[in-house]
Amino acid sequence: MLSSGASVTLALGGVLLAGGVSQAAAQGPCDIYAAGGTPCVAAHSTTRALYAAYDGPLYQVERVSDSTTLTISPLAAGGVADAAAQDSFCAQTTCYITVIYDQSGHGNNLTQAPAGGAAGGPDNLAVATAARTTLNGQEAYGVYIAPGTGYRDDSTSGIATGDSAEGEYAIFDGTHFDSGCCFDYGNAETSNTDTGAGHMEAINFGNEKDWGYGAGTGPWIMADLENGLFSGVNAGYNSGDPTINYRYTTAMVKGTANQWAIEGGNAQSGSLSTFYSGARPSGYNPMHKEGAIILGIGGDNSKSSAGTFYEGVMTSGYPSNATDAAVQANIVAAGYASPASVGPAVGSTVSLQATTACCTGDYLKHDDSDTKVVIAAVSSSSSATTKADADWIVTTGLADTSCISFESANDSGQYLRHSGFEIYLQPNDGTSLFASDATFCPQPGNSGTGVSFEALAYPSKYLRHYNYTAYIASDGGSNAWDASSLWPNDTSWLVDTAW
Ligand code: AHR
Repeated sequence: MLSSGASVTLALGGVLLAGGVSQAAAQGPCDIYAAGGTPCVAAHSTTRALYAAYDGPLYQVERVSDSTTLTISPLAAGGVADAAAQDSFCAQTTCYITVIYDQSGHGNNLTQAPAGGAAGGPDNLAVATAARTTLNGQEAYGVYIAPGTGYRDDSTSGIATGDSAEGEYAIFDGTHFDSGCCFDYGNAETSNTDTGAGHMEAINFGNEKDWGYGAGTGPWIMADLENGLFSGVNAGYNSGDPTINYRYTTAMVKGTANQWAIEGGNAQSGSLSTFYSGARPSGYNPMHKEGAIILGIGGDNSKSSAGTFYEGVMTSGYPSNATDAAVQANIVAAGYASPASVGPAVGSTVSLQATTACCTGDYLKHDDSDTKVVIAAVSSSSSATTKADADWIVTTGLADTSCISFESANDSGQYLRHSGFEIYLQPNDGTSLFASDATFCPQPGNSGTGVSFEALAYPSKYLRHYNYTAYIASDGGSNAWDASSLWPNDTSWLVDTAW
């Protein structure tokens, strides 16, 4: 067990030197767990090495344009992922994360989850550019789980089984969650089916209330123990588990014989709090852990959940609180922070100019003859109505505060939303579906110019004009407007001042 003095020494993370060169961390989270006698048996991160000496593969991406793959490694041993390599490889097309490598040496790599008892498969892969972040100022990417996305390893080595002890932590985006089942990371069934209470022990994050929930409106850190998300010893409500929604949230679950705990905190500052520590819920002692690993889904491949994962580990043995505290200090020192926004400022009114060579005099606009949204010529000599039809008030994303929505400047309360993958201007009906369909996450322009607007629930699809009509479109796909030709240009917009 670590002393508190050792915790401070072990807490060193990556440090950014002048010129933006990263100095590798003196210790990674898995060095800390090893020193505490509870070594990592799975260590997954697309953002950084989780051991000071690790310089192997972090993850693999595959690009749509030619189906080739690239392995992303740290810039240096113990360092941050080489995101620039991904940027270069994925320019002008879409990349998916195909493998998240296990850094622990146990070979517990996460790949596309197969079909399970609750849903068919294989699940979707995460779009590699959808969760931009920085670590001590250096660019990296997390794993963006839209509903339908999931990773799994059913054939693991070293992961806790039966009633044996384990610890788990993950860093999530506390602003990206939903009430679907089940945004999990951790121990699950090897059969992809629900094999009963106690057959899972995974971290869950979201505001689903069907099984357990905590104080406030959520999201909560809970434990998915199978046939139940638990916020404490009781099924249902446990007041000790607070709503926790830091932009970067540390979430921990650990369990041993008739004992388990939930801990959480702000991954950018401060220490952990214990939200539950005590006996197993009724019907969950002893546990029957099976030792598969899931990310973004439930044990039976339930896949209606959303979230963002940056890093996480599973240990052998029940980590001490001192070890967990040292890991939290290491996480804080890693310096996670949101990247500078590439999109228009909330509160501004803008126009969106097409960048494709055909159409640079065209702007995204509606008119009042129908609910369709198109691109059409607008100029200084256009009528006041035409100009106002092409002006958009930028609001905080209706379904995600780190993204945006577009309200018409001359039809108050009406927003751009997709439906059937076409864009319409419609009044906000207050439903969660409308909110999701009307939320767009700005990304650097797919062509290298301007800004692209990713659909919140469909991260491979961006606001696009095609035959002068507005859609959300992926680079290749089943709809005519998914055509690869000109996709980078048609999905890239210049954000101009309002007319
Ligand atoms: O325990 C909650 C969920 O219930 C599990 O993740 C899933 O396997 C089952 O549907």
